Amino acid sequence: MKTTSDRLSGYRIAGAVAALLLAILLGWTLYESTGTEQLVLPTNGVLHGARDDVPSDAAAAEALRERTALQAWRGEAGPSPAAAAEPAVTGQAMGGGTDETGAAALVASWLGSRDENWEMIRERGFLEGRVTQPAEFLSVLEQPQGRTWRGLHNEEIVFGGGIVIFGFSLLLALFLAWRGRVPVEEGFSGERVQRFSGFERANHWVTAGSFVLIALTGLLLLYGQYLLKPLLGAGIYHSWALVGAWIHMIFAVPFVIGVAVMVVMWIRQNGPSKLDVEWLKRFGGFLPGSEGHPPARRFNTGQKLIFWAVVLGAIALLVTGLSLMFPFFWLEITGMQLAQLIHAGVGLVMIAIIIGHIYIGTVGMEGAFDAMWRGDVDRNWAKEHHSIWLAEKQGGRRQTH
Ligand code: HEM
Repeated sequence: MKTTSDRLSGYRIAGAVAALLLAILLGWTLYESTGTEQLVLPTNGVLHGARDDVPSDAAAAEALRERTALQAWRGEAGPSPAAAAEPAVTGQAMGGGTDETGAAALVASWLGSRDENWEMIRERGFLEGRVTQPAEFLSVLEQPQGRTWRGLHNEEIVFGGGIVIFGFSLLLALFLAWRGRVPVEEGFSGERVQRFSGFERANHWVTAGSFVLIALTGLLLLYGQYLLKPLLGAGIYHSWALVGAWIHMIFAVPFVIGVAVMVVMWIRQNGPSKLDVEWLKRFGGFLPGSEGHPPARRFNTGQKLIFWAVVLGAIALLVTGLSLMFPFFWLEITGMQLAQLIHAGVGLVMIAIIIGHIYIGTVGMEGAFDAMWRGDVDRNWAKEHHSIWLAEKQGGRRQTH
């Protein structure tokens, strides 16, 4: 007969293989994030006709680096570095010309006018004109901190998301390789206990299915231009991104409704209690060598944390998402930029958290998936992970939280 450790050893091997793959992906993300390609590319084809690709020749790349530095300075507060800077750009580098002094003079003039306008830029944050259109925000002619936003979006958010998602998944895979799948220590009793009603499960899977679609399309919108556009070509990528954006917005509706229903059904059982301190101190009894699992009611502390992350995350995504769907309806430019950064940042962190949730609900813990799929669990599983809930249920008493 197979022992518990035989039954579970395959999971440790799978964990080690997954950890290796994730370490490679994380390493690649880290490498890319420190790469020299992080340039602010012109959006109007300054270097090569109508295209905005990273230039392949060294001189053009150098010109872009200079241009990036120049733009970064304009968005920074503090004294201008212009006086100290010796522009080191060659005429050829500036876009095909060979007039070295001409290009250098151009850079010098950029730096000069930056200096002249510095006070105005720094004080106002914006350069504003007067417009006769009803759309007030069109009066903003230039917004230097827009470059800070673009830098944050293209670097911190894009690479930070990869690091958080791959890094957290790597930790889970290492945990699986080290600890193995959390077993039902006493083995299955064969006796089943009802855990979630049909309505609770239907709502969970509608919410989960919507979230998966929202997450995949969100990743497509954020990373597609770097990973898919070069493979598919701009035309096909554009159609995919458009469909993706619609799926992203449409499935936000069942997701938000699903989370709201979870709040109504489960908030009472997710309040803090003294048991949480004990649970956290013993890390839920998940570490090898732990003596049993700490007592818990219907939801243990780990699950309460997931619940609150989902609820608060959904609120943040809803508010910022609506702001992005109706641009400038109640936010000005800075507000729009903030909304975009918060939306992307919270979305990426939520994806990492849900990967952790999916892990523990499937491969990470023996016997857990049945709870949400069939609606019932083995009595020994319930005894180990939700002892008070089981005792109250079997004693027929009313649960509190
Ligand atoms: C897509 C794959 C998913 C799987 C396999 C999965 C699995 C599970 C399982 C097995 C449970 C019950 C745990 C128990 O018996 O105590 C559960 C509960 C729960 N799920 Fe999921 N889930 C998934 C996705 C999601 C998503 C996307 C969300 C929300 C964005 C979510 C939110 C919750 C919440 C709030 C609970 C109750 C608290 C908890 O058990 O952590 N789930 N899930």
